[in-house]
Parts: sequence; structure tokens; C-alpha cells
Amino acid sequence: MDSCRIGIWKHCILYLTLLLAILHLTHNLLFIGNETVRIKKIPELPLRFRSDGTFKILQVADMHYGTGNVTRCRDVLASEFEFCSDLNTTRFLKRLIQAENPHFIAFTGDNIFGTSAPDAAESMFEAFGPAMESGLPWAAVLGNHDHESTLNREELMSLISLMDYSVSQINPLDDDPTSPTNGGTMTNIDGVGNYNLRVYGAPGSLLANSTVLNLYFLDSGDSALYQGIQTYGWIKDSQLRWLRHVSQEFQGQKQDPIHPTDAIISLTKPPALTFFHVPNPEVPQLYYKKIIGQYQEGVACSRVNTGVLQTFVSMGDVKAVFMGHDHINDFCGNLDGIWFCYGGGFGYHGYGKAGWPRRARIILAELEKGKNSWMDVQRIRTWKRLDDEKLSKIDEQILWMR
Ligand SMILES: *[C@@H]1O[C@H](CO)[C@@H](O)[C@H](O)[C@H]1NC(C)=O
Ligand SMILES: *[C@@H]1O[C@H](CO)[C@@H](O)[C@H](O)[C@H]1NC(C)=O
Ligand SMILES: *[C@@H]1O[C@H](CO)[C@@H](O)[C@H](O)[C@H]1NC(C)=O
Repeated sequence: MDSCRIGIWKHCILYLTLLLAILHLTHNLLFIGNETVRIKKIPELPLRFRSDGTFKILQVADMHYGTGNVTRCRDVLASEFEFCSDLNTTRFLKRLIQAENPHFIAFTGDNIFGTSAPDAAESMFEAFGPAMESGLPWAAVLGNHDHESTLNREELMSLISLMDYSVSQINPLDDDPTSPTNGGTMTNIDGVGNYNLRVYGAPGSLLANSTVLNLYFLDSGDSALYQGIQTYGWIKDSQLRWLRHVSQEFQGQKQDPIHPTDAIISLTKPPALTFFHVPNPEVPQLYYKKIIGQYQEGVACSRVNTGVLQTFVSMGDVKAVFMGHDHINDFCGNLDGIWFCYGGGFGYHGYGKAGWPRRARIILAELEKGKNSWMDVQRIRTWKRLDDEKLSKIDEQILWMR
């Protein structure tokens, strides 16, 4: 810093500016030969409740992104058609992030509409653009249309896991010490994009180093031949086995792997929320039950039933499930004590219903206030937001209370 002497302060400022610019650049970029490689931006981790005791999730179902401004909207009013494209989907996402200030975004598949996206990666970057720009942690699973372009399902999940602020995982790590793939990505599990995200207690609280909420993500597949008949994908036995194992680890303890001595013993598992794309085969039963929201089309689920509902019931921690796939269903209904909720179609290039606004779901988990500190999750609520002028809030309900 010899150049920083009285009299040449202009040089000094220039020098400092240059230094800062270089520092900024090298912080974000890696130079390899002539290629510049960006380093993924990582959100603040672990995921945790805020100091006001809340954790708010925005669920985005079925963005069905194509190629941006040239991709036309489907099922909008004739008067809306001319000035409507994928950019309206982008605009809706940006407005929602701004209006709701969520702490996390969960994308439940059909993020892109493969057949309308000549370059899958480009479409993905545009679709998730607002999430990446927001700096919020976000996660995604795949639907049955994401892979219908230039990338297969493994490549897509790998790309998604490398995007800025994404906490998506390709698959869980293999923690079985007897397995040959121990420490690597689990191989004896079907699908891609099965993972658990732990949400820790409020900062500075007694449960600051403990998991108080789990977010389970599952790959519900795309489509497959079953006994000679083409049907939608389903959650396989291997995935349910893995999930039961994960959930079991939370029984009787809330142990933090990083600070095991800080573990707080609790007899019940923390509540869990589950996210996937294609509804499980039990969801059509809700046609005969009291629901909150609209049931406007047949549930396009798989013919194969591996006992998803039964598994969730026996696990005991899953309180609600969030799905997509059927764009004009947006209801929540309860089966055996577990809520099954649709996000409602979000994207303008996906089918919808003209005059029935595109929509999204918000999920709010709230902690119990102890004597001197925030405690466990006490209540989970949900509502939806419509893409109208006021982003109307509808169908608020309580999903779970301790
Ligand atoms: C879409 O955006 C590109 C780049 O900004 C522009 O050149 C093109 O004219 C736009 N197309 C339409 C249909 O608006
Ligand atoms: C799409 O966005 C444009 C402007 O960005 C707006 O004028 C138009 O009303 C929107 N269409 C719909 C259906 O939301
Ligand atoms: C959580 O971990 C941090 C860092 O190790 C420690 O300072 C803090 O006291 C722990 N809090 C609790 C409640 O265990």
C-alpha cells in the first residue's frame, strides 16, 4: 500500500477499487485456461427457523417452462393471449417472492416442459431464474415432462443441484457402513432426486442445533409400462424403505450430527412435510371426502400402489404431502390423518383453465414459544395465492397442530 500517500490519493482510490474488483471477481469466478467457470452460490446453511419462530415455504407446481418470451400461454382468455408468454410465469414467481417473503422454495416438478424446450439447461436456468436471483434456498424434484428435452433425469437433477442457492440433491448419501458405495451417492434406490432436508430450530434457541422439521423429497418417476399397460410413474419400494430408515433415525432423539453433545432428547419425531410430483394412488379417494379447494379433474396417478399412504401413516412424522401434476386441482384433503395438497398449476405454458388464475401454495410452520426460548414446531398452516392483481390469498387452513 505504498501508493497510498498524501498527494496521490486519486491513485490510491483507483488502486483500492481495482483491488476490490479483482477480489470480487476471483471470489465468484474460477479461471481455467480460457474458460471461466462459475462457482455455485450457496445459501446460509443449515436451513433453520427465523428468530420470529417461523419457517415459510413457497410451493411452485408445474411451471412448464419453455423458451421464454416466444413460448405462448395455454388456456388463458382470448383477450390475454396476445401478450402472454413464459415471462408471465417468471413475473408471477418474482411477485410472489416479493409479496410473501418465503424462507424456502419447493418446486414439485414439471419445472420445464421438455417438448417446448429445445435446450433443457437454458430452459431450467430461465425457469429457476427468480429463485436463483432471490438468494433464497430452494429445492426441486422432477415431474414427468422435465426430461423430454436434451437432458435425462440424472443430468437434470445434477444440473439443478449445481444451480445457485439450490439445496436439491441427486440422491442421498449411502450411510450404510457395510455397503460398497458407503460415503457415495446411494445406488440401491430407484429414481433420482430423493433426499431429506433438515430444518433446525430458531437461532439461539434451545433447539438451535436440532432438527425440528424434515422436508422429504421423492421422485415419483415419469411413466412406465406395468403389466403391459402404460401408466404414470410411482414411488418404489426402495424409496419407501429409504424414507422409513431416515424417519426412524429421528425416533427418540433429535441429534445434530455436527454437535452430537448438544442433542436434546425428545420422544417424538419432528414433524415432516413431503414433496413429490405425481399424486399417489390413494388421492382419488378424496373425491368422496370433504376437501378445501377445487377438485376439477381426475387424479392422474399411477395404477401401481406400493403402499405410499400406509408407509406415511406408519412412519408417523409425515403431516402433509405436497404434489403437482394435475394443474386444475388445487385442494387439500385428509386421508388417515395426513393432508394431501395440490399446489395448483403455476405456469402459463402448462394446461389450465381460462379465467381460473394460475396459483401457488404457501406453507407456514410456526414454533412454540417456551419460557425463554423458541421450542418445537407447534402448528403448520397453508394457503394459496392467485396470480391476479392483488395476488389474492385463498383457502387458508391449519394442517397440523401439536
Ligand atoms: C424475445 O426476446 C429476444 C431477446 O431479448 C428478442 O430479440 C425477441 O424479439 C423477443 N421475441 C418476442 C416474440 O418478443
Ligand atoms: C402477462 O404479462 C403482461 C406484461 O408483462 C401483462 O400485460 C399481461 O396481462 C400478463 N398476462 C396474464 C395472463 O397474466
Ligand atoms: C449450538 O452450537 C453452537 C456452535 O457449536 C453452540 O455455540 C451453541 O451453544 C449450541 N446451542 C445449543 C442450544 O446447543
